[in-house]
Amino acid sequence: MLVLGIETSCDECSVALVEDGTRLKGMLIATQDEVHAPYSGVVPELASRRHVETILPIYREVLNGVKCVPGDIDLVAVTVQPGLAGSLAVGVAFAKALAVGLGRPVVGVDHIPAHLYAIQLERKVPYPFLGLVISGGHTLIARCLGPTELEVLGTTIDDACGEAFDKVAKHLELGYPGGVAIDRLARRGDPKAFSFPVPSLHKGDHRYDVSYSGLKTAVVNQLEQFRNPGYEATRENIAAGFESSAVDMALNRLRRAQRDTGMDRIVVAGGVASNSYLRSRLSDWKGAEVFVPSKRLCTDNGAMVAGLGYHVYRERGAGNLDLDILPKVAEFRGNYP
Ligand code: KG4
Ligand code: ZN
Repeated sequence: MLVLGIETSCDECSVALVEDGTRLKGMLIATQDEVHAPYSGVVPELASRRHVETILPIYREVLNGVKCVPGDIDLVAVTVQPGLAGSLAVGVAFAKALAVGLGRPVVGVDHIPAHLYAIQLERKVPYPFLGLVISGGHTLIARCLGPTELEVLGTTIDDACGEAFDKVAKHLELGYPGGVAIDRLARRGDPKAFSFPVPSLHKGDHRYDVSYSGLKTAVVNQLEQFRNPGYEATRENIAAGFESSAVDMALNRLRRAQRDTGMDRIVVAGGVASNSYLRSRLSDWKGAEVFVPSKRLCTDNGAMVAGLGYHVYRERGAGNLDLDILPKVAEFRGNYP
């Protein structure tokens, strides 16, 4: 079954063709960095407008690139939640129009399990496994029981990890996009230059939760207070100090979840999973086999949507043309979605 996947939940416009949920035939990802760079952050109205401009050309280019015609598509899958309302709406409207025009079914896909599915396009990771989604919009640890079945153990109680990267980079003018800029600077810095505060979320309901707003405030507003004697507050040292604190916080919670659940397979996905320091820490992880998709499948992409869409269709059948968007999901704790 040839599935066309469409992803427009934030500022990446991506279209991909995936065969039977696993074989990636072709994909394009149009980034919008030059649109948002002057504002050092994604401007929702500009993002959706750019999606309107790019979606049809990249759809055509993906099909041409793999010598397919529209009639070859068996199913259209599109991200419907969570994300920026205007951005999601462009992808969903395009998907519905295409489905009607081609006389093919359409399914709505959730962006969170889609990130955790991305690895399956590169290698088969058997379920169940422990998953960490670490992106610009979300930070979440879940037991993944199947492609569409997550049991959420912990989330962020305020900002997402990638959001903290982006905000720190914006306020300290470290570059745009923020995550990549900090990653690059941190390679030449010393993480020991700063000792930023670690939130104390140890007990009960918060055992696997993270919190990034305190770290962000410390780096942006109280930097000198956390500088260690003998180190300079260079851009490189700030980036390295922040990066290690941000990544270690998520990985410490992941380690705790691994110990408590006894799960011996871990999948880490989402934009921040392309961070160099995070990838190096995961490369010698003890006690579990760790799987991280290649960088282009960590950040937002249509392939993960097509891949998961295949399973959504098999499990629940086609959606209908009432398919709506859900920018904010109500609750992350417990069974999700
Ligand atoms: O998964 P994604 O493309 O979009 C969301 O679902 O949010 O993740 C984007 C996030 C942004 O916050 C971006 O700064 C971050 O991923 N990111 C990185 C790196 N590359 C992207 N953060 C740290 N290091 C990177 N190399
Ligand atoms: Zn994402």
